[in-house]
Amino acid sequence: MNSNNRATILIVDDEERNVKLLEALLHADGHATLSASKGRDVLALAVAEQPDLILLDIMMPDMDGFETVARLKADPRTQRVPVIMVTALDDRESKLRALEAGAEEFLSKPIDRADLRVRVRNLLRLKEFGDFLANHNRILDEQVKERTAQLEEAYRDTVFTLVRAAEHKDEETGHHVRRISHYCRLLAQAMDLSTDFQHTIYLASPMHDVGKIGIPDHVLLKPGGFTPEEWSIMKTHSALGASILASGTSPYTRMGAEIALNHHEHWDGSGYPNGLQGAAIPLTARIMQICDVYDALRSRRPYKAPIAHARTVEIITQGDGRTRPEHFDPAVLACFVRQAERFAAIYDQHVDE
Ligand code: C2E
Ligand code: SIN
Ligand code: SIN
Ligand code: FE
Ligand code: FE
Repeated sequence: MNSNNRATILIVDDEERNVKLLEALLHADGHATLSASKGRDVLALAVAEQPDLILLDIMMPDMDGFETVARLKADPRTQRVPVIMVTALDDRESKLRALEAGAEEFLSKPIDRADLRVRVRNLLRLKEFGDFLANHNRILDEQVKERTAQLEEAYRDTVFTLVRAAEHKDEETGHHVRRISHYCRLLAQAMDLSTDFQHTIYLASPMHDVGKIGIPDHVLLKPGGFTPEEWSIMKTHSALGASILASGTSPYTRMGAEIALNHHEHWDGSGYPNGLQGAAIPLTARIMQICDVYDALRSRRPYKAPIAHARTVEIITQGDGRTRPEHFDPAVLACFVRQAERFAAIYDQHVDE
């Protein structure tokens, strides 16, 4: 309805005389009108002018009222505009047909003035209420989307901040954890996992090594290889991380705990802490593992120099004595190989200074 609250009513009739009559009646009641003489013009006119109500003749030569109303009701841009069918056919069958096609109301010719006024008024109220609801829903929708985005942003910020506190000891910057998010989401997407999964692993994966916060510096930052005792301390970072995250209840911390516990398990059963094998290792962790190894190999660590992309892919696919292809889920490995160039691009985009 326009700003001065005057309704605009579209009159559709092939006979000029009928249009004039309806115009006169509606103007007398304070409404504005538009008119069309052909059914086929109605849809475009209704889209362009957004009338509040349509009075539609049934018997028209080119496109009859049944077909016209069906088209109006099939188009989301016009389906909420109420339609009154105006007919000389006073039979029950054509009324039913028009209702089935989506018309809200009926008027029989000759038009009864009081009848017209009541139906027009009722349907204009209905339209006004419909407009109000649609607008209200749209505003609610926007607010919910906005709040959700704000919450997620805050959540992501918290995750990256906490995780950086845990990892900054053996890394110069927080880039590793950011890259991990991107690699994991890329593999999840390439493996056709749900967008929900992609989204959750994006936020959960950076928490995989939070357990490193509990590893003493003389172990974590040791420039060389470990004694067996140091190794056994280092290996506790998986369970430690899982227990830190176990108190969380969001899908992100739950997936994060699962990944933390299992991200050093190997497909062939040679990993830790539980020596799980094959599909007994959660898929989240199987995805995480290959992303973690790729990024650890590419990066500088207190105990190792960075390795170039091509050599890294070679180590993962051919093995080097420490890392073996048998460590990885073959399906995830195949996917990694197909996406290898994109791993390189992610690394280059978020490289440590
Ligand atoms: P990280 O540095 O984040 O490495 C994660 C994983 O990447 C390692 O898990 C391993 O599978 C792979 N990886 C890392 N560097 C190399 C490498 O030079 N060659 C090969 N082939 N694979 C590599 P892993 O072995 O379970 O180690 C877990 C964590 O233990 C490492 O996380 C790191 O924090 C620590 N760590 C492992 N070895 C050493 C070491 O010799 N010295 C020190 N200071 N820390 C070590
Ligand atoms: C992200 O939020 O997309 C990670 C931030 C980054 O890529 O540095
Ligand atoms: C992003 O695309 O950078 C974030 C999407 C998400 O949080 O899953
Ligand atoms: Fe780890
Ligand atoms: Fe890591």
